[in-house]
Amino acid sequence: MQRVAKLMKVFVTRRIPPEGTQILSSAGVCEVSAWDSDEPVPRTELLKGVQGAAGILCLLSDKIDAEVLNAAGPDLKVISTLSVGFDHMAIDEIKKRGIRVGYTPDVLTDATAELTVALLLATARRLPEGVEEVKNGGWSTWKPLWLCGYGLSGSTVGIIGLGRIGMAIAQRLMPFGVKRLLYTGRSAKPHAAEVNGEFVPMDTLLSQSDFVVLSCALTPETQGLCDKAFYTKMKKTAVLVNTSRGAVVNQEDLYEALTTGQIAAAGLDVTTPEPLPTNHPLLTLKNCVVLPHIGSATYSTRGIMSALAARNLLAGLQGTDMPSELKF
Ligand code: NDP
Ligand code: DGY
Repeated sequence: MQRVAKLMKVFVTRRIPPEGTQILSSAGVCEVSAWDSDEPVPRTELLKGVQGAAGILCLLSDKIDAEVLNAAGPDLKVISTLSVGFDHMAIDEIKKRGIRVGYTPDVLTDATAELTVALLLATARRLPEGVEEVKNGGWSTWKPLWLCGYGLSGSTVGIIGLGRIGMAIAQRLMPFGVKRLLYTGRSAKPHAAEVNGEFVPMDTLLSQSDFVVLSCALTPETQGLCDKAFYTKMKKTAVLVNTSRGAVVNQEDLYEALTTGQIAAAGLDVTTPEPLPTNHPLLTLKNCVVLPHIGSATYSTRGIMSALAARNLLAGLQGTDMPSELKF
């Protein structure tokens, strides 16, 4: 009698784009159960769903900590996240247990850099305010100083974290006539030469930049990096743009900096919490543009991320090389 191999159990924490689902269902190596919704899986359902799983495909909104790993149990081999950021996962705990991690770098770099440029321009040139004025009758006539903002031409841009996305942002901003491109991080980057990037200390970046762009990872060192002292060092005419993680920014201090004229404006694609409550003080400010974490949100990018996350998961289940494995 032929023995039928037992399929490995996989839990997918959300309805994901079909590219990934198809790869998983046609692989013939796993039995997939999923939280089949566009909304996040409730914690109790997550803890139930992962029981006995060999693989978990999760999203950045799922906190993958010791409790989840314990609930999954000893069969867990791989966690694949549909994101490049991995700050939602307890990496030390995962490492201790020898579980492999897949993530989605590179494939979302262009989309996120593009959105960062859009947010920077929308914030600096006051696009949401302008659109609102057209609709509410505030547009009376052409006025010399009405809705003036700040332009990129001749400016100094400071990028905090010149990694994959930071570099792609720099490449897109330079053709606007940016005069100087400063960056900071833990080490100087050889690839910075392509954009004439100058590696400078944080304080130099803050005091000289007209635009400060956050594209660093969220780590214990970058958590709350942008606080009162940070804003105090910036130019009063400077614009802050954050497409990294909300927790890099201290939002109370940001509110103060924006209302006291310490800095000119801020554009945020990421906040704490997400979603930002609709009564949050930052949402009352004209000089703060908030987007709902849409950096990588193009149809094509999300489809590719889904397929990559599925392939990472399958490789983790089968013990083969992953297309994108997080090395820790
Ligand atoms: P990379 O790993 O390529 O880049 C991360 C950068 O963070 C590196 O340049 C690193 O600099 C920098 N960094 C780390 N620690 C510090 C520190 N203490 N101070 C300053 N810089 C630091 O990642 P990606 O570019 O691919 O992605 C970056 C982040 O963007 C992700 O982690 C994610 O949080 C966010 N993201 C947001 C999206 C959105 O939708 N808004 C979409 C995709 C990503 P160094 O090498 O010198 O340490
Ligand atoms: C990520 O991948 O980390 C983003 O925040 C969403 O694409």
